[in-house]
Amino acid sequence: MSLQSELLTIIKDVPDFPKQGVIFKDINPLLRDPLVMKKVISQMADYARLINIQHIIGIESRGFFFGIPLALELNLPFIAARKKGKLPGSVISESYALEYGTDCIEIQSSALKKGDRYLIIDDVIATGGTASATAKIVNKSGAIVAGFSFLIELTFLNGKDLLLKDNENAQIQSLIKF
Ligand code: PRP
Ligand code: MG
Repeated sequence: MSLQSELLTIIKDVPDFPKQGVIFKDINPLLRDPLVMKKVISQMADYARLINIQHIIGIESRGFFFGIPLALELNLPFIAARKKGKLPGSVISESYALEYGTDCIEIQSSALKKGDRYLIIDDVIATGGTASATAKIVNKSGAIVAGFSFLIELTFLNGKDLLLKDNENAQIQSLIKF
């Protein structure tokens, strides 16, 4: 069975979660399956090797599930992009729009090295707001966003277009599209 078919089986649709009308993609059954998880990390690693990166950024919180094993697989540093107020010391912040209101994501300044190449990881790209804000932080520091990697892409929300607007040379990988 292809990894894509395995993911289609293992990722469960949960209707009306977290609210009415939304179909939530539940990745917890994937996290409980080490064999399929290893295949996911291996595909992300194959892609990451092609785009020549020096750092992996995982976005709080579900991006950590994939970013940390990927960084270990590639022997690269892992950097946590965290929600506002969680990181000590000097940080670079970026706000982004939610359906209602705004949120803010931060990375420690000491983790961002001018001219170095970064890969941004998350579980899902929906509107692209979260990943785009994370990329803006990298760009503001003078570092380079070489690519993005997502387990799931919700294509009908066109998040990719938002990412490519500010990062036209970045590569985008998504293992499964809905
Ligand atoms: C979810 C998901 C992505 C983001 C995608 O995270 O894990 O990070 O939303 O949406 P977007 O492309 O429209 O920005 P959420 O903020 O729900 O937090 P969590 O990862 O901590 O569950
Ligand atoms: Mg998230």
